[in-house]
Amino acid sequence: MSLPPGFLDELRTRLSISDVVGRKVMWDSRKSNAGKGDMWAPCPFHQEKSASFHVDDRKGFYYCFGCHAKGDAISFVRETENVGFMEAVQILAGEAGLTMPERDPRAQEKADARTELADVMELAVQHFRLNLNMAAASEARDYLTRRGLDPEACARWDIGFAPDKGGVLAALTAKGVSQQMVIDAGLAAKSDYGGAPYDRFRDRIIFPIRNARGRPIGLGGRAMAADAKAKYYNSPETLLFDKSRTLYNIQNARTAAGKGQPLIVAEGYMDVIALSEAGFEAAVAPLGTAVTEHHLAMLWRVADEPIIALDGDTAGLRAAMRTIDIALPLLSAGKSLRFAVMPKGLDPDDVLKQQGKGAMQGILDAAIPMVQLLWQRETEGRTFDSPERRAALDKALRQKTALIQDPDLRNHYDQALKELKWDLFRTRKPQARAPGRRGAFNPRGLDAWHRDQSPVATNRNSALATGATRDDHLREAVILATLIATPAAIEPFMAQIEAMECTDDDHAALRGVILRMAPGTDLRAALHDAGLEAAVDALTGQRIVQLSSGLRKPGDLDFASACLSEAFAKLSTARALPQEVREAHEDIDAGDEGLTWRLRQATTARDRAAIIAAGSSGEMIVAENGAELDSDELSAARALWEALTIAKPPEDPK
Ligand code: UTP
Ligand code: MN
Repeated sequence: MSLPPGFLDELRTRLSISDVVGRKVMWDSRKSNAGKGDMWAPCPFHQEKSASFHVDDRKGFYYCFGCHAKGDAISFVRETENVGFMEAVQILAGEAGLTMPERDPRAQEKADARTELADVMELAVQHFRLNLNMAAASEARDYLTRRGLDPEACARWDIGFAPDKGGVLAALTAKGVSQQMVIDAGLAAKSDYGGAPYDRFRDRIIFPIRNARGRPIGLGGRAMAADAKAKYYNSPETLLFDKSRTLYNIQNARTAAGKGQPLIVAEGYMDVIALSEAGFEAAVAPLGTAVTEHHLAMLWRVADEPIIALDGDTAGLRAAMRTIDIALPLLSAGKSLRFAVMPKGLDPDDVLKQQGKGAMQGILDAAIPMVQLLWQRETEGRTFDSPERRAALDKALRQKTALIQDPDLRNHYDQALKELKWDLFRTRKPQARAPGRRGAFNPRGLDAWHRDQSPVATNRNSALATGATRDDHLREAVILATLIATPAAIEPFMAQIEAMECTDDDHAALRGVILRMAPGTDLRAALHDAGLEAAVDALTGQRIVQLSSGLRKPGDLDFASACLSEAFAKLSTARALPQEVREAHEDIDAGDEGLTWRLRQATTARDRAAIIAAGSSGEMIVAENGAELDSDELSAARALWEALTIAKPPEDPK
């Protein structure tokens, strides 16, 4: 039975989810804040001693940071009482003092009307099918043959023909179907001027569209003439046909996907047919509309990772981006999309005709995950040679991932994008390039090139934007001094040296010479030639550098490596932290569920830095595990975490 609109909303507003959940759990009184409706308990869905199960009474849902169980009061009752949806609603309605509605008589009428319309559609499909065999349809048959569809294939797809005259309206009314029913089914239309109704489909090939249960609900009509006004004409929306909830070929696709075939979302009827005929039978298409959230829900009921087949042109890519925007808020663990990009200018039908099944299989195998396409859109063909551009990239990516509702998944996206960013910004080897020729995808190399041109401007910029501290300056000095004392360490640490953003011009200049030095050449001589002797002296003259760098054991590669590992670890972790904290702050503003998780991550990063720092002052102690270490910096990290938790702004009382 169906519930009247608004019933569930009414039920949810009358219920307090913490009351419902409270009967099954013991609240953690220290962590909970009943006044704010912010309740914590050990999770009822998995074994644990700590309280990772969070109930937000105001929003009316729960989420477990341990096992990721989540839902509202209804799903809580379903899960804990092991009952179905309607039973859970009944239980809760009883508690909330709401009477369950009677079976809705109007809904029944509507269901009956639908059955009748579907019967009319079935008659129409048969009518068009028969037409295809008639003399008047010879042109249509030729057209289908040219497109590679033999009579058997046409039969499999119920392909038919609507002639220019003597159409379906006359045929169905002759069989006793009322004119109004033919109109309601979307087969005929009343003219604007009150004239007699006319057939909507004329001189077109007919592709019947069926719902998930295989009942015909609409039609697609393709014109054969290249100059036709509309290439495809589809049924209007009717009681049966809702384009936003319909996918062509969904019923066959579901069966095929159940047998292990990949679920493919193409753009058009002919693509679906060509794919299926070639053996890719789990193929569907929307009907001349963009992919909707309902489509995605349908797809995810069939497969965890449907593959969106994209035309390899800008329009295809734009459509994919729209799909991504719709999909992001709906993603959950295990439910995602992949994208298979067709060669430029070809659709799946063309690929199969021109290049064959093997090529199509290759394209499908190479389908890229959604996160990759997101990344590609934001970065392809662009350079990130300035902190401003990198910040803009960060912002654009975060705007996208902020759409993801599932906090755990959002974290994984942020993490994946962060790794891609690190790959892009930090580990590119400098490439030999002609001066002035800028590579599109090599920001480090470009950075270095700019530095050679105008060291001051570039360095000042990056120092400002990265919020470099005196500590970083010292760490850089330690790194550079160590490399100068033991040049053999340059090669193994090349990637980190490249990634190091220098906080002053001398450091940048030294780093530049170190990076450019060919293996086996004399570094001291190269520094001398570059006029950097004073810079080297300034560096190695600092007492703290003498104590904590590889200067203590020049030429000792093991010692230098230990120094460098430690210094680089501190440098990168120290710089990663403010970013995490900044992101956590943004989440606080958004009043977000993932907040605690993010802070925990940030604290872990900070702890790691603190652990490494605990073994500093020239001693080479790098702890694998900080459990026993309880340095001041560790407690500082905890204090930071506490401070941030307290800093959470009071929620807007609604
Ligand atoms: P395409 O233009 O990509 O056509 O439209 P196609 O499927 O490759 O068709 P063929 O191969 O030329 O026969 C993709 C889909 O967009 C809708 C249809 O659903 C079509 O399958 N469409 C297209 C329309 O609804 N109306 C149009 O005029 C064109
Ligand atoms: Mn096509």
